[in-house]
Amino acid sequence: MNRLRLSGSFLAMCALLLASTGCKSVPGRPGPQAMRPSEVMSFPVLYNQNCAACHGEGGRNGAAISLANPIYLQVAGVDKIEQITANGVPKSLMPPFAKSKGGMLTDQQIGVIALGMEANWGNVGSGSNEKLPAYTAATQGNAANGAQAYQTFCARCHGADGTGVKTNGVNSGSIVDPSYLALVSDQGLRSLIIAGQPGQGMPNWKSDISGSGARAMTDQEITDVVAWLASHRIASPGQPYATSID
Ligand code: HEC
Ligand code: HEC
Repeated sequence: MNRLRLSGSFLAMCALLLASTGCKSVPGRPGPQAMRPSEVMSFPVLYNQNCAACHGEGGRNGAAISLANPIYLQVAGVDKIEQITANGVPKSLMPPFAKSKGGMLTDQQIGVIALGMEANWGNVGSGSNEKLPAYTAATQGNAANGAQAYQTFCARCHGADGTGVKTNGVNSGSIVDPSYLALVSDQGLRSLIIAGQPGQGMPNWKSDISGSGARAMTDQEITDVVAWLASHRIASPGQPYATSID
């Protein structure tokens, strides 16, 4: 096609110019170093262009879950991360990136991102044989038990009912607000509780074991707390008026 013919003549022109100018700049043409978006295979470039706005620069301190978190990376694993990056998370703000799903990245680029996260941010040879919670919940969870586990593990920071704690007149924010819960999946909540938000004050499932008597959450407790949070969802979040008109 047209493009082939053009790039063919561009190459021919370069070959002619190479001896004298090194083909550094041809007026009206992109420089030789300009790539098509689908040719970018650098992890930092792909991450910064596609993910950093939500997951934070360097994989932390973004609005969405930190990806530069060895616990998250270990629990989720490369295959899962590739799959989620390709397909997105329905009904959340996590978009699909695979071209087959209307996104902008090739499967190869998605592989570069998933492997790059593991290589740059994973736990390189920590040798920890601590038993991690499963990525996926094994059961539906029991909201009533979750309410109790919430008191044990979460209330000190998120308030007795989940609506936040006031410090110097500033509320820490509600995690039971239906409009928040409408935009996050149960798996998203589970991942956050397991992996925490490093550097942002949200502990992982081990819940900051420091005080005497403190212990890690069990897998079932994580599942139940998610069920309790999910029980605060409502059918039409953000709609202040009744749906039936007459
Ligand atoms: C030591 C204090 C602390 C404890 C304990 C704690 N959190 Fe958090 N949590 C935080 C902080 C601080 C943030 C905000 C982090 C951030 O900016 O992303 C947060 C964020 C969250 C968020 C995300 C809110 C958002 O806007 O994205 C959820 C959901 C959450 N916590 C649930 C829990 C649950 C459930 C538990 C108990 C299993 C728990 N947290 C225990 C401090 C805590
Ligand atoms: C517009 C904001 C946005 C962008 C851009 C974005 N994400 Fe996300 N991502 C989210 C949100 C929000 C979630 C949580 C979804 C949920 O509720 O489960 C998420 C979830 C994820 C998860 C799953 C976390 C889990 O629970 O296992 C992965 C993996 C992920 N994103 C990777 C990426 C990668 C890689 C990129 C870039 C190619 C990216 N995201 C770009 C917002 C974004």
